Amino acid sequence: MIPESLIGRLKVPAMAAPMFLVSGPDLVVETCKGGILGTFPTLNQRTPESYEAWLVDIRKRLSGTDAAPFGVQMGIHRTNPRMAADLELSIRHQVPLLVTTLGITREITDAVHAYGGLVFHDATTVKHAVKALEANVDGVIAVCAGAGGHSGTYNPFAFLGELRPLVGDKTLILAGSIGNGQAVAGAIAAGADMVSIGTRFIATPEGMCSDAQKLMILESTVQDVVYTDEVSGIGASILRQTLSRPYDAPAQIGRFDVGKEISPKLWKNIWSAGQGVGAVNDVLPAAELCRRLRDEYRAALERVSVLAAA
Ligand SMILES: Cc1cc2nc3c(=O)[nH]c(=O)nc-3n(C[C@H](O)[C@H](O)[C@H](O)COP(=O)(O)O)c2cc1C
Repeated sequence: MIPESLIGRLKVPAMAAPMFLVSGPDLVVETCKGGILGTFPTLNQRTPESYEAWLVDIRKRLSGTDAAPFGVQMGIHRTNPRMAADLELSIRHQVPLLVTTLGITREITDAVHAYGGLVFHDATTVKHAVKALEANVDGVIAVCAGAGGHSGTYNPFAFLGELRPLVGDKTLILAGSIGNGQAVAGAIAAGADMVSIGTRFIATPEGMCSDAQKLMILESTVQDVVYTDEVSGIGASILRQTLSRPYDAPAQIGRFDVGKEISPKLWKNIWSAGQGVGAVNDVLPAAELCRRLRDEYRAALERVSVLAAA
């Protein structure tokens, strides 16, 4: 189910996924205004102080609007030197949604629930999803094969099928190669409550990355996406044009260990995209993209309801 605090606040049951060096206040504000929950990784700002400045800026720009709530993403792990400071700030500023990766504890979910916030946890395995549910998260993000960033290896139908009974009345969010409203409708029909959309939002003026990176998104196809743990120690979807040695075929490695610390330097010239990159053919303002996703989603639902009536 969609959490009560999100009911009536989303035009599409979707979040714009947190993306390292891509998501910032402009993308968050425009997606939230477009009825899609906008998020960013706290590490997209260099210090806790500048992270706090973004929180203040986003709140100010969204106040008095009927925008969707926003969220931030944090790695809950000892390799994240910012964890304690960013967590304290997120709780103090009552960030509506905390997206957690790598780990999650009951203390954190209790602290977020105390002010009415939500916690969604990224999971690439059933074991990680169960651990997160035990820590009382509000939702599990099923990060499937073909997702951008540190992706999973499971087929979405298989993963949704196993997670749905475990997640029960909590929120099940599907991530991986979802880039249009038809795919959102498909995910919901397959048992998800919401979706998480990353790669499609890179190709927006609000995305903080370079024009060269956006151009590569437009020009790339599924054949260019390599799944490898050689970049960060964790399996990730990488555009092969940005790797130093040639890759011919996607390498299925199937690991999800906690690897090297994520560093801006590492990701400056090595770019990630999900397998849905081949269907991204234009750079669109985020507001327009949200409208397009909403229209496609509604049209897809109508098509299905016509089939159901027949
Ligand atoms: C360029 C890029 C950077 C990403 N950075 C992060 C990140 O910093 N933290 C995170 O939790 N997920 C990150 N992700 C993963 C997304 O949050 C999300 O799971 C994924 O983009 C969904 O798949 P899709 O890109 O196929 O839509 C990133 C994805 C991309 C494409």
